[in-house]
Amino acid sequence: MAEGLNLARLWRDMLALCRLAPHEHVAVLTSAAKPSPYATHALLAAEAAGASATLLQVSDLNNLPPAAMAAILKSDLLIDLAFSHDARVFGSLGNGLRVLVAVEPPEILARMFPTMEDRRRCLAAQHRLGYAKTMHVVSDAGTDITFGLGEFPSKCQYGFADEKGRWDQWPGAFVYTFPNEGSSNGTVVLDRGDILFPMKSYLQAPVRLTVKDGFITDISGGLDADFIKDVLESYKDPNVYAISHIGWGLSANGRWNTLGFYDKAGTEGQDGRAFYGNFLFSTGPNSGGGGKRSTPCHLDIPMRNTSVFLDNQAIVLRGEVMPDDQRVPAPAALAAE
Ligand SMILES: [Fe+2]
Repeated sequence: MAEGLNLARLWRDMLALCRLAPHEHVAVLTSAAKPSPYATHALLAAEAAGASATLLQVSDLNNLPPAAMAAILKSDLLIDLAFSHDARVFGSLGNGLRVLVAVEPPEILARMFPTMEDRRRCLAAQHRLGYAKTMHVVSDAGTDITFGLGEFPSKCQYGFADEKGRWDQWPGAFVYTFPNEGSSNGTVVLDRGDILFPMKSYLQAPVRLTVKDGFITDISGGLDADFIKDVLESYKDPNVYAISHIGWGLSANGRWNTLGFYDKAGTEGQDGRAFYGNFLFSTGPNSGGGGKRSTPCHLDIPMRNTSVFLDNQAIVLRGEVMPDDQRVPAPAALAAE
């Protein structure tokens, strides 16, 4: 653990960002098979804030038992330390439940600890993405693809759950939406060093994806291309070839290199998904954004050194975030203030 890392203080500060009020109730969810080391910190921090708190230890994270669901429904904030994918949890957001997922190791929680500045920049990006009609993405490696936008809302993660109905994950700072159905056309060239999730691996050589009317129609390249092709083919489901969410990374402290420091079970990969100026491309479902397409295969692929244009406005240029209201101020600019 990094020197000076104080989990009690981090949890206190996180619950303050989540605007936990003394009259509120917190549910802390953890896995019976692999209890989270954060459960005690979360419970103590909630009680120190004057809130009441319940620990829920469950064996099936994707099919929560009735008693756990009942406790969650009575709560204002669910601290999910096991990353449940139970659809009823997402369904509860409409009733005002706030959900905060926290599964990364302590060093990542501390290094990428979110701020109100992250929130401000992410909401500015969400607003900009929300009124765009097209996204055009290019790279020196050969990417040149256009996505129609406007059918689905823009969303962001900024690392804490402060508003009623907000689902977020500590840490993370990125913005995304889903392309209009059938509107994605062009070529995506995944380059050496781009990241493949959930495999948590760095690509070793370029992979060329041809995209027509919203679906990948050809995959070519070397071993990495063969691997991706084989994974997608194994599902026997045409929807795995569709384009899922698209967006860009805005984390001030997320690092592309982090997967090189952990074994695969050691991190969930929020660094890779959120590092500043990435283009996060993904494949498969769009049900999470309001679309009708669902499929169990979902690849998140953060790409480096790409340029993202919204309606011809440069938003990211070769991995550098451009709009003033989305940029992390340079250290010199901070010092001059
Ligand atoms: Fe994803």
